[in-house]
Amino acid sequence: MNAIFTRRSIRKFTDEPVTGQELEQLLRAGMAAACAKNSQNRLFFVERGPNSLPELLQVHPHAFALKTAQAAIVVAADRKKAAEVDPHIDWWVQDCSASIQNILVEAADLGLGALWIGIWSDPQRVQAVQRDLALPEHIAPLGVVALGHPEKEKEPNDRYEAEKVFFGKYEARG
Ligand SMILES: Cc1cc2nc3c(=O)[nH]c(=O)nc-3n(C[C@H](O)[C@H](O)[C@H](O)COP(=O)(O)O)c2cc1C
Repeated sequence: MNAIFTRRSIRKFTDEPVTGQELEQLLRAGMAAACAKNSQNRLFFVERGPNSLPELLQVHPHAFALKTAQAAIVVAADRKKAAEVDPHIDWWVQDCSASIQNILVEAADLGLGALWIGIWSDPQRVQAVQRDLALPEHIAPLGVVALGHPEKEKEPNDRYEAEKVFFGKYEARG
């Protein structure tokens, strides 16, 4: 719970690098996430240093965290394989999302700051990341995690709202 609550979106980072060991731990966390049909159809592209993914920075209005981030992990899936896993349901979107959340929580546990930068399913953002990483069309980036040491700490969050919880069937409220 401590890591879950201390995880906040960090958009500005110090110059302190993210170590190779930390990156491996984050990748382990990403790969440990739940995955529909256990397909493990997820790919992780690691970028080191600030100002990575320059094409994305040009088209994404809320990706400026990459300017100071010391590393970035792009979580993606092979859509050809995804269609073989299930031709009806795009499980890969949820699979990659689960990985990203695991990476964010592990980053918080390591004392790092992180930000989920949404890519899928905006065609401009998807194509920009594909250009940045020389990805073929069938490798689809779901999102990017920007990483580094936070310039400023944020308050932990606990957003429990009892009125959003239903024990049993839906009932109209207030
Ligand atoms: C699917 C998804 C996409 C997001 N994309 C962006 C983004 O592109 N840029 C950004 O600055 N924040 C992005 N965020 C972070 C949210 O703005 C943030 O989680 C929210 O404001 C709550 O703040 P917190 O993470 O500090 O609890 C994204 C979050 C999610 C879950």
